[in-house]
Amino acid sequence: STALQGTFTWSAPSNIALVKYWGKIGDQIPANPSLSFTLSECKTITSLDYRVKSEKGISFDLLFEGKPKEDFKPKVQKFFERIVKYCPYIEDYHFAIDTKNTFPHSSGIASSASGMAALAVNVMSLEKALNPTMTTAYFDQKASFLARLGSGSACRSISGSIVVWGEQAEVSGSSNLYGVDFPYEVHPKFKSFCDVILLVDKGEKKVSSTVGHNLMNNHPYAEKRFEQAHVNLSELKKILIEGNINGFVSLVESEALTLHAMMMTSMPYFILMKPNTLQIIEKIWAFREKTAIPVCFTLDAGANVHVLFPKEDKDFVMTFIRQELALLCQNQQFIVDEIGFGAEQI
Ligand code: PMV
Repeated sequence: STALQGTFTWSAPSNIALVKYWGKIGDQIPANPSLSFTLSECKTITSLDYRVKSEKGISFDLLFEGKPKEDFKPKVQKFFERIVKYCPYIEDYHFAIDTKNTFPHSSGIASSASGMAALAVNVMSLEKALNPTMTTAYFDQKASFLARLGSGSACRSISGSIVVWGEQAEVSGSSNLYGVDFPYEVHPKFKSFCDVILLVDKGEKKVSSTVGHNLMNNHPYAEKRFEQAHVNLSELKKILIEGNINGFVSLVESEALTLHAMMMTSMPYFILMKPNTLQIIEKIWAFREKTAIPVCFTLDAGANVHVLFPKEDKDFVMTFIRQELALLCQNQQFIVDEIGFGAEQI
């Protein structure tokens, strides 16, 4: 082969789930389908330098922001071990990986989705160098498949702007193995949407998502929750097509609170919201009541709040965020983001 050595660089964005993935089976198979907005500004940028070597095996060095980062190595090692079955050629190379995020480190923003997606597209670039006739459709689908093996939600960060992961009868082409672009024409209302991420608590995550997913095994409400996610995804499909913004607001907020309700009712149980998380939620509700602007919140497995609203309301909502919500963030920090379009080669 001609691919003896070289370097690729890709950026991959984070994504925010509207219908949440929480619970998995075996090899990163989701217990329920999920849907997310791909983000634009919150990204991981990763270079993969590859060099053919004589002995076979997984080998790599890893730099984070230009410095060796030991605590990231086990995750990357595990990623390579999981994908080698599907990408046997990786054993012919030594990799030098150099990665950085556009968002503050340990901001409590999950970097696993953007990080694993950025790594997966780099590996696919190498595969494409070995197999130049590969189609874009194959590239994207396998990149999402590989990203999933690194971190489930990462499979929703390859493309955009709306991605579904997990088999759902009413979303054609949906799969448990990779994310697919939402296959219907979305109402213009949902084509440009903002997500302002309020950094309420930048501390280390109290519950890793691996532990969290596992708590859904033997969870008393698991089966009902998985059923509900299917129903909510069908509902959200209609909402996105029809442009039903009020339906969007209540479904998205209910999904976020349900995710946290699952954590509060597992054994062991967790409260991941902070007092300021609740204060922010109340302020959002009061603002919505007063202004009738369809601004809503969603949450990940942590205390930070994602504030979602149509871009046409941006000036007005940003004033509210700066004046009222920023005070409830650590060091008044927040990140202004919006819907984006997926991984890009640099
Ligand atoms: O990709 P993981 O295993 O880190 O799980 C992410 C789970 C949530 O962010 C809480 C929800 C989701 O669908 O992204």
